[in-house]
Amino acid sequence: MAIEDIHDFIKELEKNDELKRVKTEVDSNLEIAEILRRQMYSNGPAILFENVKGYEMPVLANAFGSMKRLEIGLEMTDFTEIGQRIVDMTKMDIPSGFLNKIKKLPELSKMAESFSKLEKNGPVTEITSSSASFDDLPILKSWPNDAGRFITLGLVATRHPETGVRNLGVYRIQIVDSTHGLMHWQKHKRGAHHSDISKEKGEKIPTAIIIGGEPATIFSSIAPVPEGLDKYLFAGITRKKGIKTVKCKTIDLEVPANAEIVLEGYVDPADLRDEGPFGDHTGYYTPAEPFPTFTLTGIMRRKNPIYVTTVVGKPILEDAYIGKVIERAFLPLIRMFHPEVVDFSMPAAGWFQGIAIISIKKRYPGQAKKVMMGLWGMGQLSLTKMLVVVDDDVNIHDMNDVIWAVTTRTDAARDTIIIDNTPTDTLDPASSLVNLGSKLGIDATQKTREEGYEREIQQLVKVDEDTRNLVDSKWPSYGL
Ligand SMILES: Cc1cc2nc3c(=O)[nH]c(=O)nc-3n(C[C@H](O)[C@H](O)[C@H](O)COP(=O)(O)O)c2cc1C
Repeated sequence: MAIEDIHDFIKELEKNDELKRVKTEVDSNLEIAEILRRQMYSNGPAILFENVKGYEMPVLANAFGSMKRLEIGLEMTDFTEIGQRIVDMTKMDIPSGFLNKIKKLPELSKMAESFSKLEKNGPVTEITSSSASFDDLPILKSWPNDAGRFITLGLVATRHPETGVRNLGVYRIQIVDSTHGLMHWQKHKRGAHHSDISKEKGEKIPTAIIIGGEPATIFSSIAPVPEGLDKYLFAGITRKKGIKTVKCKTIDLEVPANAEIVLEGYVDPADLRDEGPFGDHTGYYTPAEPFPTFTLTGIMRRKNPIYVTTVVGKPILEDAYIGKVIERAFLPLIRMFHPEVVDFSMPAAGWFQGIAIISIKKRYPGQAKKVMMGLWGMGQLSLTKMLVVVDDDVNIHDMNDVIWAVTTRTDAARDTIIIDNTPTDTLDPASSLVNLGSKLGIDATQKTREEGYEREIQQLVKVDEDTRNLVDSKWPSYGL
């Protein structure tokens, strides 16, 4: 069954025994978050809280907190398919000549199926109003020292003020009062870029905060899609079917028609206020920093919407699974630019921007460093603090194998690089300055003579064919 929205997703999760309903009254202030953390740390199911103190609306969380649930939501088991579809599109050549174009029509129409379609109305336009309040939503406070309540899984829609390319990014929003929030789009993200362009023009930027939608749209909002590629198109590519959109009522933006709630408004890039502290993905409270103010101008919502949220903290929580899907989805794209890359891993404990491990098929001296430099130049990978490059005989998803490679193939002085004063993730708790830190690259590939390794290259220990066959054939007789 094609999953069109959060309600379909819930049905599928229930069918697969991946969701539990909590009917006991629970508080959106700290209690729900603590229940969720206990469930997330013990690989528990998605939870639908049906009785939230003071609110009509149920709260859904941990809906993406396992690979199985992501397989259900995105309707695929091999997530590399997503990146592969994009690679295939870039390979498509559209030849000139009428007949040639006709021949290519099936491929072109397949591509067109991924485009979004603007509708007059949709489920999210069931109720529309220009008098909206954050107070009507069961927005969570997650940690005791958080600065307040935060929307943590809102898809923030903006449009590039010059190119018109549409973006959706999951950025948290701290609630200030019933119509104001603080938009935590970090400096390197697309939303912040759009906002900076508006600021230069002395303008406010129309912004919508979307709750719910197709699981593929939620995933796409978290995916590090390069500027220039419309996120609505990316969502359509992910689900092999374009998403439906509707126009907002109080601002000039298109939003997913199948969302639960759309909070319309604008961000004033010139009105900065302290956002945070907030208990973050790193496991630490990110201290208060200035971020721009969002003003609510209207709401569109279903009659019976579900508030979709998540809780972050020390890994491994729900976002780790989404990160794993991103890792798989983007592998074909990394390989398009760096064909020597065999595999790529962002261990969840490293909160994704902390460390990445890459295996390569090395052909020439210095190639590991070439890959590091390439990845540090690619979109959000530029924020990754540490890169470890190993040979393709290493299983990068097995930390024992990685540590073995690092400790047997690396000489610290020869095989590490440190680059100072580079962009780093805003959340990096260790960098001396916010947004500026250093990079560590570890080349843990086998060194060659050309790379200055003067000793005899030591042979890997390996059993010989004859002994292996002998032991294989006698194995049942050993009684082991
Ligand atoms: C639960 C969750 C919360 C997030 N919160 C933020 C945030 O507050 N600010 C931010 O810049 N990125 C945040 N991110 C990461 C962005 O969603 C991610 O970097 C995404 O690729 C941004 O998209 P963009 O390319 O549209 O900027 C969050 C991710 C998740 C999964």
